[in-house]
Amino acid sequence: MSDVSLDNLDQHTADLLNAVAALSSLEELVTRESSLVGKRSVLSSLQKSLGGLTPDERRDAGARLQESRRRVTEALEARRVDLEAQERRATLDADRLDLGDVVGPTVSSPLEPGHPGIIAVTQLALEEVFVGMGFRVEDGPEVESDWYNFEALNMPPAHPARGMWDTFYLEMGEPETVVLRTHTSPTQIHLMERAVRDDALPIHAVMPGRCFRRDTPDARHLAAFHQIEGIVVDRDITFADLAGTIDAFTRAYFGPDIDSRLRPGYFPFTEPSAEFEITCTICRGEGCRTCSQTGWIELGGCGMIDPAVFAAVGIDSTTWSGFAFGFGIDRCAQMRHEIADMRALIDNDLRFVRQFS
Ligand code: PHE
Repeated sequence: MSDVSLDNLDQHTADLLNAVAALSSLEELVTRESSLVGKRSVLSSLQKSLGGLTPDERRDAGARLQESRRRVTEALEARRVDLEAQERRATLDADRLDLGDVVGPTVSSPLEPGHPGIIAVTQLALEEVFVGMGFRVEDGPEVESDWYNFEALNMPPAHPARGMWDTFYLEMGEPETVVLRTHTSPTQIHLMERAVRDDALPIHAVMPGRCFRRDTPDARHLAAFHQIEGIVVDRDITFADLAGTIDAFTRAYFGPDIDSRLRPGYFPFTEPSAEFEITCTICRGEGCRTCSQTGWIELGGCGMIDPAVFAAVGIDSTTWSGFAFGFGIDRCAQMRHEIADMRALIDNDLRFVRQFS
């Protein structure tokens, strides 16, 4: 630095302004503040030297000194504001959570629109096939009373057939009176009751929805799954109408090379009852592990509506007859898309989910 003298005031001022500009942190600014503009500064020493000057010289030099002090002080305050802003930004950056590392690129990359999941897509496709065959689509509750889930379906309390469904009971009302529906068949009862009340027979309807069973999930079962139920209540309906409907559906949904067949079965609410099977879509009927080498996969149950069910809802079974069927939507998706393990449907693994967009 040049000699401390008023003659060098411009040089001193320039040196001070450079020193201010070079301050690199608030901490440095605070430490050096008094040596730049305070008592220990060049400007204060010069101030003291004014005493040795004539009054005229003093006025002139005093004014120049004041101007220098103003410029340096202003520069220092501006530098303080800058450094404060810089340090606040650095703190915010350091504190910000980098979610990119936590959830992967899906969320941190530009937003991808979602799409319906495979079950929703399958349900819509099934509805479309049935609507094309003249069925309406209806909805029913997931929480049912014992009456709708069992009793009206010809299973009085303690009927052994109730054991066909491992049931979740809700803690509502009397014990074991409110259930999560174990199948979509209770929706049949709602529909028939409504049709009787509104004098709206015949009925041709399908009823898709979620069902629940106390099953341990495995490759072919989930505890919360989806079924689609169908009923026809009309005049002169026979078993041939049922078999024809199942066959027409199978070909429309799975393709012309997939056959269906009915095998004798038992359900308390249909008589006669059958289980319906389709050609295994994995081996096309050759026999493989999925179909236990039979070439056939069971899709659901069906049968002619039992007169006891008609009696429960007040339909005259001498005038009306009908059939019902019910099968798993998840099982259809599994067959159609050759999904080896059904648990993939609920894992939410994006690599799986994205295949069905
Ligand atoms: N509700 C039966 C089940 O879940 C399927 C079924 C529906 C059978 C309609 C006959 C008639 O297993």
